[in-house]
Amino acid sequence: MLVETPPALTAEQFGRIADIVREDSGIILTEAKRGMLMARLNRRLRVLGLSGYGAYCTLLDGPDGRVERRNMLSAVTTNVTAFFREAHHFNTLTQQVLPPLIDIARKGGRVRLWSAACSSGEEPYSMAISVLEAFPEVARYDLLILATDIDPLMVEKAQAGVFSETSIQGLDPARLRTHFTRTGSSFEVRAPLRNMMRFAELNLHQEWPFSAGFDVIFCRNVVIYFDENARRRLWLRFADQLQADGHLFIGHSERLDGPASAAFRLAGPTHYISIARETGR
Ligand SMILES: C[S@@+](CC[C@H](N)C(=O)[O-])C[C@H]1O[C@@H](n2cnc3c(N)ncnc32)[C@H](O)[C@@H]1O
Repeated sequence: MLVETPPALTAEQFGRIADIVREDSGIILTEAKRGMLMARLNRRLRVLGLSGYGAYCTLLDGPDGRVERRNMLSAVTTNVTAFFREAHHFNTLTQQVLPPLIDIARKGGRVRLWSAACSSGEEPYSMAISVLEAFPEVARYDLLILATDIDPLMVEKAQAGVFSETSIQGLDPARLRTHFTRTGSSFEVRAPLRNMMRFAELNLHQEWPFSAGFDVIFCRNVVIYFDENARRRLWLRFADQLQADGHLFIGHSERLDGPASAAFRLAGPTHYISIARETGR
């Protein structure tokens, strides 16, 4: 039997690819990630009909490089997620965070929540389920959830709102019945959830096309892939984006550090409240 040898990735090519990934996304690829990178990029090489990484690096640096750089990011990002992952955040959302925000919305105010690395959508839809359960008449008020991710394939998937049996495992059966329609082995989110969501492709390290004014930001399990500078810069930008008393939720193995620490107080495990900005709400 003929066994095809996968193309080899030299140290120089690995370095070039790691530089591009870091430049474009802030994600650090250490030597330990080399095997993972090769496994994922070998697939890209096959799709593109390229024989090796020399040609791939030439493509990345050439005039058509932009398109492939996006595909490459899709290949290297880790998209693991789940409905109601780190459930204590959603309990806090329901019990502490949403009640005053619902009052603001009922009085005609604007309320905005943001899932800043939404992956395939389980996180922002869990936020939306929490909102709908606490505020069934939300459709009549100005409350929206923005869900963004750097990976265009993930944003597309999140926006489609169709989940497999594996994804919905662990979701409470009553919630499943209320918020999803089953078609064969797929589960599609119903309109009341969909209507409060907006989706967009967004790289956290580039310009953000909105001005300040979020009440809640979920940015969980993404800064673990960034270097210290990129992470600390991001915390400062979140401090800027949040209303005074706005809430930031981060991943279980992450911590808010650097100069932005002065702009937040710790309110619970990996839950921070912004103290810096005065907004005339
Ligand atoms: C492990 S998932 C976390 C998903 C979700 N927040 C959760 O905790 O379940 C990390 C996500 O971060 C996204 N990501 C990585 N770098 C990013 C960047 N620079 N800007 C925006 N999203 C990024 C990835 O595409 C991926 O979907």
